Amino acid sequence: MVLNVFEQFYSAEMTANGRPRHAALVMLISDSEEGRIRYEAAVTFFPYDDPEDFAVSYDAYFSKVLYDEPGKRSKKRETELLLDFRRIIDEMAERPENSPNFADNGTLWTPGKVFWDKPLRPARGDHELPPLSEENKAAGGDNEPVEADAAAESGRLSDNKEKIGMGRKNFGAKPLSIPQPVWIIATYDENGVPDAMNAAWGGISEENEVSVCLSVGHKTCKNFEKTGAFTISMADAEHIAGCDYVGISSGNQTPDKFARAGFTATKSAFVNAPVINELAVCLECRVKEFSHETCILKGEIVNVSVSDLALTEGKVDLAKVKPVCFDPFNNAYHVIGEKVGDAFGAGKALL
Ligand SMILES: Cc1cc2nc3c(=O)[nH]c(=O)nc-3n(C[C@H](O)[C@H](O)[C@H](O)COP(=O)(O)O)c2cc1C
Repeated sequence: MVLNVFEQFYSAEMTANGRPRHAALVMLISDSEEGRIRYEAAVTFFPYDDPEDFAVSYDAYFSKVLYDEPGKRSKKRETELLLDFRRIIDEMAERPENSPNFADNGTLWTPGKVFWDKPLRPARGDHELPPLSEENKAAGGDNEPVEADAAAESGRLSDNKEKIGMGRKNFGAKPLSIPQPVWIIATYDENGVPDAMNAAWGGISEENEVSVCLSVGHKTCKNFEKTGAFTISMADAEHIAGCDYVGISSGNQTPDKFARAGFTATKSAFVNAPVINELAVCLECRVKEFSHETCILKGEIVNVSVSDLALTEGKVDLAKVKPVCFDPFNNAYHVIGEKVGDAFGAGKALL
């Protein structure tokens, strides 16, 4: 007999199968059969588009067997299993690709996070979770920051600690950096229909080379594998809705996605790919290689073009471009702003 001995809905965050999720159902499940008892921890992330919507979808469902032995249900064991329950769920949610239930259909997944301090309903079942300590609650249920140096602990640095920011919070091994680019990658299909997608996990990797990590199933990948080319335009504040839209809808399902984003195209004079007229700064690239194993696309930059509207006396003027960067810690876009110094110059005073 299968039973949820504990279940609770929490506010949560994750993108799975390209769909943002804002709630999670977590469960401790018992399965008793012929004198054997099995316990599983499980979490499933679902959209929760409105506050009354608890319709769980199971395409982002992860579980882990915690116990599987001869015997029968024991409330004592269940209480024990719940002691470490949050950590186990956090681990599964943060690294869904390690879960046996993970099915990557080629769409980007972001790590999941359950907000343990934000339950959406009272718990159901025979148990409650042990309370979050007051301390943990303040930190959103995360681990205690780890001190950088034992010397700090012993007091040598402690006087200065707050001033120089010795307290640190660990976010774990995750693909987080500030800033990350907001690249709009544009391609043509075999009939010359343009598509565009948003990509933040990329950078300049060599002289005239870009590298970006792309899930193989994207329409974009199918396109550039046929045409051998793509362009990268820098997202900007004025077109933020269109730039985000191309990151949450796919040309696989929406063939007129490019136009819906409010974009128009001019074919690049250098490669068989569209330059987005509305975005000022564009890298025009030839595909060097795309590995289905590592998902890394490498492209040769054959030209960089910038709209006249973004130039002041022939130079690129960031105040006119208003490029945005991606903040992966908070899933947000920020305008790149104020100049604070000269590169290769601000440090000269310290030489
Ligand atoms: C902020 C943001 C950053 C993204 N970064 C990437 C990325 O680096 N790699 C990737 O494969 N998908 C990324 N995506 C997801 C794709 O843009 C998305 O799956 C898109 O629908 C693919 O479109 P296509 O199928 O039309 O090519 C990102 C989405 C957003 C909103």
